[in-house]
Amino acid sequence: MKKILITAGPTREAIDPVRYITNYSSGKMGYSLAEAAVKRGFAVTLISGPVTLSRPEHLAEFVQVVSAAEMAEAVKKRFPLMDAAIMCAAVADYRPVCISQSKIKKNGGNLLLTLERTEDILQTLGKIKQPHQQLIGFAAETDSLQAYAQEKLRRKNLDWIAANLVGRTDRGFQSDDNAVTLYGAHGEIIDFPLCSKRELAEKILQAIFPESSSF
Ligand code: C5P
Repeated sequence: MKKILITAGPTREAIDPVRYITNYSSGKMGYSLAEAAVKRGFAVTLISGPVTLSRPEHLAEFVQVVSAAEMAEAVKKRFPLMDAAIMCAAVADYRPVCISQSKIKKNGGNLLLTLERTEDILQTLGKIKQPHQQLIGFAAETDSLQAYAQEKLRRKNLDWIAANLVGRTDRGFQSDDNAVTLYGAHGEIIDFPLCSKRELAEKILQAIFPESSSF
């Protein structure tokens, strides 16, 4: 049985005990991929940031994390045992340098938060990937989809990248539907027009793992 690791959802980066930085990711795309991968006979490890979706059935493992650092630790520990990884999570790129231990009080002036880069988990996996492992990333862009996606494919040493436009209400973050273009490391370009994330997940897995079939 092939083992696949899938990340989903946003991460939360704490500012103080009551506030955090996050993004609009709902986790629907990653959860749909996990469900579709189970149906195709994969042993699925789902590593999820905070979402309101119910846990897919028949997973090999379900790991809930909150921050980018927790997600990085959970992913890096398991990746060497996997045949493939699909990084669908919208990991925060920046986190506050200091987390205040008490609630930050407001005053008359502005509040300046200093943020530092989080680890790019996908890029780390690209560096440690073995020849038998397939690594798939996502790219959410507001413009220049193809150029940014293909640059990421090369820079992060991926086998595939699924790129989608965000900033539109009919697709992407929060929506039940999405349209993506899949770019392969060997020059493949496959367009998947707007459809439900559930259907899209099936189509993406069919394209990447044609030898597996859904039951
Ligand atoms: O560079 P960018 O953030 O647009 O790349 C998106 C891809 O990288 C997604 O697959 C996402 O899951 C992954 N990523 C990551 N760790 C980060 C940022 C993004 O794994 N800190």
